[in-house]
This record gives sequence, structure tokens and C-alpha cells, in this order.
Amino acid sequence: MKTYFKTQVLSNSVETSERLAMDLIRYIQNMIRYRDCIYLALSGGSTPQLLFEILSRDFSKAIDWNRVHFFWVDERCVPFSDQESNYGNATSFLFSKIAIDKDNIHPIHGADDPLNEAVRYTGEILSIVPCHKNFPVFDLVLLGMGNDGHTASIFPGQLNLFETNSICTVTHQPETCQRRITLTGRVINNASEIVFLVTGKQKAEKVKSIINEETESSLFPAKKIVPVTGNLSWYLDKQSAAYIDIKMS
Ligand code: 6PG
Repeated sequence: MKTYFKTQVLSNSVETSERLAMDLIRYIQNMIRYRDCIYLALSGGSTPQLLFEILSRDFSKAIDWNRVHFFWVDERCVPFSDQESNYGNATSFLFSKIAIDKDNIHPIHGADDPLNEAVRYTGEILSIVPCHKNFPVFDLVLLGMGNDGHTASIFPGQLNLFETNSICTVTHQPETCQRRITLTGRVINNASEIVFLVTGKQKAEKVKSIINEETESSLFPAKKIVPVTGNLSWYLDKQSAAYIDIKMS
């Protein structure tokens, strides 16, 4: 299957996000030539903010955003107004600056009861995102990686979330005990394109361990991201790729 993404190392976080933004736009432009709509799931944290800024600054008119449905990979159980809110940040840096219908944006309601919200969000996904064998097939899932090797809101010690048949579930951040709602591993691995955006020297050890398939990496949730049939790519900067041999792009 043709892919518009490939694992690559750029000089710094700005160039990495700029390259991913360009590849994302090319991908969307080509996909919507054949499809009415495509379905993306975004991660949160701080890394994607630069990507969102670049998309809204340089590509706000590059596509009909109403041909894209945005979901979230995970969310912190906080109100949208909280600075921790993944939806709140994506709205500040991207959705408030592009022409997109609110019906195309599917936030996880972090302020609501987590168990009820996980059920509601599951229903929303199943009613909108195309499924194969009763599992949603996102066209693209954008992931980050924590310093501990977590991805989405699946943390070390929660690898059972790659076996469950649930679509999304309630977890918690082990250090802060902050409750989270997250897509489960099987949903993520069912996507057609899975793209990691990982920058910064504090990620370098885990990137090395995962890319080089070191024994300990089997404990890291990010290592369990293995597409069933889709493509996996890593967008890295020199700092996060400091210990691996991938030639600079
Ligand atoms: C979240 C994310 C999470 C994130 C990593 C990296 O809600 O925190 O979805 O998986 O991608 O924690 O976060 P940073 O980009 O802030 O390093």
C-alpha cells in the first residue's frame, strides 16, 4: 500500500514538524480524491503543538478540512479549559484557526465521568469510523511517546490494553494518578497509517531501545505499536535519534 510517510530524522523539532505537516497535507489531499471523508486520531502532550501551529499557519487553506474527521487517541480527565486538555490545546493551536465544522471534531469529554465517557466515545467512534471485523479502522493515528516509553495513555505495566477487545478504556498516569481515557492498542494497531512524532533528547534512550528492538523495549507500550496491515513511521529529530543509525533526511 502506497504511503506518504517514512521514518526519518530531521535537524530539529521545527523541521521535523514542518516535514510531517507537509506529508500530512499531501496525504490528506490525495486521500480525499478517492474518499468523501478520512478519519484521523490525534495524540496530545506538548510535542504536537508545533505541528498544529504549522498546519494552521502554512496549510489552513490547503484542503477542505470538512473532509477530515478528527478524533483523539487519548485525553486527560480534565475540563476542555484546563491547560492539560488535549482537545483544548488542539483547538487553541489548530481548530480555532481553520475552517472546519464542529461536527468534524470528536473530542473526548474529559470533564465527564470517565467510565460513562469511555462508553459514549466508543459509541461515537463505532457510529462514524469505518470498521473491519467490528473494529474501527482509522486512516491515520498520530502518536507521541513519553520518556517512559508510553504512548497514547497506555503506560508501562498496562500492556494488557494491547489485548483487550475494548475500543477505548479508562487508565491513569502512574506518577500523578491523573485519570485518562485512551484508545486501546488493538484499535491503534488497526490503523492504516501510524505516525510517531518524537523529538527531544529526553526521548533518545527509549527511541534507541525500541528501534533497535532491545530486550527491555518489550516492556514499553510504544514498542507494542505494530500495525496489523498498515504502515508505521517515526518522525524524529537529531536529539531523539541521537543513538540510532537512521540517516538524516
Ligand atoms: C498525552 C499523549 C501522550 C503523549 C506523550 C508524549 O495525552 O500525553 O497522548 O501519549 O504523546 O506523553 O508527550 P510530550 O509530547 O508532552 O512529550
